[in-house]
Order: sequence, then C-alpha cells, then structure tokens
Amino acid sequence: MTKTVLAIPGDGIGQEVIPAAVRVLQALLPSVRVNWAQAGWETFVETGRALPSEVLAQARAADAVLFGATASPSGRVEGYTSPILEFRQRFRLCANLRPVRTWPAIRALHNEIDLLIVRENCEGLYIREEQREGEIAWATRRVTQKGSRRVAEVAFQQAAHRARARGRVSKVTIIHKANVLNVTDGLFREVALEVARAYPHIATEERLVDAAAMLLVQSPQQFDVLLAPNLYGDILSDEAAGLAGGLGLAPSANIGEGTPVFEPVHGAAPDIAGQGIANPMAAMLSVALMLETWGYPALAQRLQDALAQVLLTGRVTPDLGGAATTEEFTQHVLQRL
Ligand code: NAI
Ligand code: MG
Repeated sequence: MTKTVLAIPGDGIGQEVIPAAVRVLQALLPSVRVNWAQAGWETFVETGRALPSEVLAQARAADAVLFGATASPSGRVEGYTSPILEFRQRFRLCANLRPVRTWPAIRALHNEIDLLIVRENCEGLYIREEQREGEIAWATRRVTQKGSRRVAEVAFQQAAHRARARGRVSKVTIIHKANVLNVTDGLFREVALEVARAYPHIATEERLVDAAAMLLVQSPQQFDVLLAPNLYGDILSDEAAGLAGGLGLAPSANIGEGTPVFEPVHGAAPDIAGQGIANPMAAMLSVALMLETWGYPALAQRLQDALAQVLLTGRVTPDLGGAATTEEFTQHVLQRL
C-alpha cells in the first residue's frame, strides 16, 4: 500500500536536513508519496499560527509526519505553541522514542553505546500549567496511571523487540525520583513495576534520575531501555546523545494514537543555518525509525548500513570533524543506496 508522508521542514536547518532525508526516503521506497507543508516560528510570524489548521488536517491524513525543527523563543509569546508540542497533545503521541548509539569511525566519549530512551510525552511537567503570583512561581506536574501504563507498555514492548533483534536478554531501567517526589514519581514507578511483571523475560531495574545521569556518563554500556517521565527523559536523552557523538546523530519518534511524528532531536541551529553544513544524519535516522514503524525493518537497516559506510570514508559534516556539506554527504548516502 502506498504510504504518504507529510514533510514539514520548519525553521533554520530543518529547511536543509528534511529535504535531504526525503531524498533518501524516496530512494529507499520509490512508491512513497511526499506532501510538503510549513509550520514553526516563521509560519507563526507570517500567519499567526505555528501549526495552521490545514497542515494539521494534512498531517492527520498522512501515514507519518517528518518534522525538521522549530526556533521557539525562550520567553512566552501570546498565541504561540511549538508545533511539536501541539502534535504530541492533539495526536496523543505519548511515547517518545530516542535511540542512541555509537558509530564506527565517529569519535564519541564512549564506545559501544546502544540504548533507547522511552520518554513519557504527554504529562509530567509538560502539561505547562504554570502560575506566577508576584515573587512566587509554580508549576503543576500531572502523572496518571493510564499515561504511565501506556508509556511503560511501549518501553517493555521495545525491550522485547530489541531482545529478539539482538538475540540477548533485554533490560528496562525505570527512571524516577520517588524518594523525593513520592506521590507523582511514586505513581510512575508503581505502574512501571506492575507492567514489568507481565514481561518476566525482560530484566527490570530502577534508578534515581540523578544517579542515572552519573551512570550514563561513567558506563553508558550498562543501559538498554530507559523508561522515564517527560522532563527526565528529555534531559537524559540529550546527555546520551552528547556521549555518542552529538545532536547531529540523534533521531526520535513520537508515537501514540494519531499519525506518528518523526524528528531529529536537534533544534533549528541558528548558528549554522543557511550555510549548507548541517548534518542531515539525525533526520535520515528519523526516516529509518519511520520505516521500522511502517514495518520495513530491512529498508531501515539498508539506510543504517549506507550511513555507516559513509561515516567510514570520513566524508562527514563539520560537527563530526569533516568538511563535507549537507549536499555532499547526502550524495554519498544516495550513491551507497
Ligand atoms: P540546537 O539543537 O538547535 O543547536 C545546538 C548546537 O548543536 C548548535 O551549536 C548547533 O549548531 C548544533 N547542531 C544541532 N543540530 C545540528 C546538526 N544537524 N548538524 C550540525 N550541528 C548541529 O539547540 P539550541 O541552540 O539550544 O536551540 C536553537 C533553537 O532551536 C531554539 O529556538 C530552540 O527553541 C529550538 N529547538 C527546537 C527543537 C525542536 O524543534 N524539536 C529542539 C531543540 C531546540
Ligand atoms: Mg530536548
């Protein structure tokens, strides 16, 4: 069946890496139908909507969204919500998959990292119920049994999948801070441990988030799947990406009820935008996640193999120590496909 993807480059280097990733997708799956749309900060400035309703409708009708990045302002801007946050809430994409691995020939702070962070994507502190009264500001953190169970199920299913693919026992590490946040993290932990009982062939352990942050730096190889509440997962996944070679290599998938949204973890990178030197690999690896989700693991593997071959030639973008442009890197990948 023909698959349709809605490609939304967004802001900054999203405009450079998404077209490159789409070319790779088309080379792997010539039958794919690609529609293009715009969303993000620039779209908000032009139209007053960061995610126009017609784009939302196009996304709803697609089999996947491939999103670049937004240049969200740090301060609050009336009427603006990041399109990614809106997709997550509207499509109930309550699990965020962030695989992190090292690659041959790419210098990283550690070797042989191969882990997956499964981040809760709809609740926690990201419900953004914040208030301020004079000198005091506070935020509400919401954790539900249903939301915790939903993401825990995804984490254990992913662990089971990894166990099959790698031919070894898989492990889920439950991340929390239930020693301090007894009620909210306590609930997340309780539900995760309950879900774990249905997966006796998968090892389960728990770590306080601060300890997990340290262990990631010391010996990331000990981790397999990390299951984390929203904010912890966000922070730990950037940390893990940094250990494994940087944001230029980090893909992600937002999955749940509606159209899944695939995006590189990195942002709009205003410091290098427009120079043609952005690393398109994170966007290409997001395409690999898309292909896996669609049930084409062999195509995803072909893409990863092609990327590994290009990395071995050293013809990589400046963030990885090379001198290749986005276009040159993309050409090399296409040649190997
Ligand atoms: P960033 O990810 O845009 O950039 C951080 C650093 O990594 C920069 O030095 C950048 O040049 C480098 N970098 C990132 N991706 C790269 C790539 N593919 N190739 C080569 N170098 C790369 O994060 P930053 O600077 O904190 O945020 C910039 C803007 O992006 C902000 O407006 C922020 O709100 C937004 N942002 C959006 C995200 C999204 O759309 N999901 C995620 C993170 C930030
Ligand atoms: Mg982040």
